[in-house]
Amino acid sequence: MEFLELPPARLAAGTVRLPGSKSLSNRYLLLAALAHGETRIRGLLEADDVERMLEALTALGIVWRREESGDLLVRGSGGAFPARQAELFLGNAGTAFRPLTAALALSGGHYRLSGVPRMHERPIGDLVDALRQIGADIRYLGEEGFPPLEIRPAALRHVGRVTVRGEASSQFLTALLMALPLTGAATTVKVAGELISKPYIDITLSLMARFGVAVARQGWQAFEVPAAAGYRSPGEVSIEGDASAASYFLAAGAVGGGPVRVLGAGRDSIQGDVRFAEALAAMGARIEMGADWIEARAPLHGGLKAVTLDGNAIPDAAMTLAVVALFAEGTTRLDNIASWRVKETDRIAAMSTELRKLGATVEEGSDWIAVTPGPSLAPGAAIDTYDDHRMAMSFSLACLGGVALRINDPKCVNKTFPEYFQEFARLVAPVIAIDGPAASGKGTVAARVAQALGFHYLDSGALYRLVALAALRAGTALDDEAGLARLASTLPAAFAGDRALLDGADVTEAIRSEECSVAASRVAALPAVRAALLGRQRAWQKPSGLVAEGRDMGSVVFLWAPLKIYLTASVEARAERRYKQLIEKGMSANMATLLQDLRERDARDSARAVAPLQRNADAELLDTTAMTVEEAVAWVVDKARQRMPQIMARS
Ligand code: DC
Repeated sequence: MEFLELPPARLAAGTVRLPGSKSLSNRYLLLAALAHGETRIRGLLEADDVERMLEALTALGIVWRREESGDLLVRGSGGAFPARQAELFLGNAGTAFRPLTAALALSGGHYRLSGVPRMHERPIGDLVDALRQIGADIRYLGEEGFPPLEIRPAALRHVGRVTVRGEASSQFLTALLMALPLTGAATTVKVAGELISKPYIDITLSLMARFGVAVARQGWQAFEVPAAAGYRSPGEVSIEGDASAASYFLAAGAVGGGPVRVLGAGRDSIQGDVRFAEALAAMGARIEMGADWIEARAPLHGGLKAVTLDGNAIPDAAMTLAVVALFAEGTTRLDNIASWRVKETDRIAAMSTELRKLGATVEEGSDWIAVTPGPSLAPGAAIDTYDDHRMAMSFSLACLGGVALRINDPKCVNKTFPEYFQEFARLVAPVIAIDGPAASGKGTVAARVAQALGFHYLDSGALYRLVALAALRAGTALDDEAGLARLASTLPAAFAGDRALLDGADVTEAIRSEECSVAASRVAALPAVRAALLGRQRAWQKPSGLVAEGRDMGSVVFLWAPLKIYLTASVEARAERRYKQLIEKGMSANMATLLQDLRERDARDSARAVAPLQRNADAELLDTTAMTVEEAVAWVVDKARQRMPQIMARS
């Protein structure tokens, strides 16, 4: 089985732009499909659960297309689906399965819906019972009360009133509410038993209202769906960042010092899971919020404290708290979370088993879990994820206890957040990107900054020089892009301290030759070579930090670097520095020629089509014309401490 090794970490800081909310994405897609008119959806989540919904809509005859900007355009059917017959496979996407079941049951066609084996273990009887009250013809193809389902055309009855149970999943009520406008008749939905996960119903009502159907609600017991002519597209909708996904990053900030800021969801969010931040605050974390962002930091004094919390309103984000409990003093207890048992996996059982691997004492009941951390986290645990994205994401936090950790089947995060682990790595492994013109001294400064901070140092120019040397030795033509890219992707190169090795032999001096410099500049201009080195460069990102020096370190390779420096000096100062260097080495040098060379090189570097020399808008400008190397290093180290508070703690 595939797994991911997370190295030990202690500190987390940085900013994350959240992917689109899953709950909003699949609701908007269904509403847009049923509505009159075309809808432009901005910020749609790109992940498995949304793909399942899009595939289903295609099978149901809905026309949609993705624009280059990422916007999705959906042409609504203005009522029931055009396809009167279809077989739908919906994976493990509950947000697709439940609402589609309801919409299709009221559409008058013949459909079959199925999913992965786990989907067939997740109850749907409460929804089917409710739909049958209106006359829907739904049959269980497997076990009574569970998918797969068959839906047949039926004469609907306008009974005016439907009852649905609310204790197992709020998605049954959501599904019913979203489908009822298809009947055209006014219907009151009564909720039997206690309704769980209430904030999700607020999301549903708010989105339906955007599509022209205003549901009146009396408490959480009755919902009046008006007699309406169906949904009307508002033309364009924007999807907020996923507030459940935000919980992992905010927790990382609370555990790993912070500040960690998430962009895309905040005070104005319609997602209940933004209230996860309040739970963190109750544990002692420092939280700040703006309209569409939230920031979390560790407590000012002491560590996090355990809490007892009713997790009913935030069932998904509450899983994150169960792992944060490993870092809190005392016993953290989450109550009223029975729904965990019927999610992607039995989440109470899965949580208990995996938390114990980390040395925690865990107690569980039918609808609660209590977690007490052990004296220290057990190192080297192999965490099973049960095909549950939230198990994988929440357990990644454990590495912040300074222990290495293995996450089995990490790709299960594709369900809602394919880029999760890259984003997480960004927060726990700080990067400083340094670029600048030739002879600016950026290499010297970068290496010394790395030393001062205890970071790794990547001289990316040396990698291009190594490719060039390998090409010269192998006789590969310098315009053979594919051949050079192959060479770059299998380059037997390594670094040992400040020595560069090729095939195990020391080539530190060889790659600095004039011939090699010219060749390096040529191979570096080939996009396929740059692409081939990308993964190798990114692998340098380590929890202990990295200073990456070179052309596109801040603009491509470590685009997410929290600190980017553009280090420069006047061309005269640079020529003078080079002059001194050469003279010191006992070589001959001429100031006028050096000046001329540098001017030409600057012009070439800036005019290059591929990865030209330029200062990124988000890079700090450091002009070292009147500075010593020591002053420049101190300046960068100071900036790093301001920008990346996580490195304060270790120096
Ligand atoms: O920094 P340097 O002189 O060692 O770089 C060698 C060559 O590679 C030079 O032509 C610039 C180029 N280079 C690049 O294109 N991208 C990088 N990240 C680093 C260097």
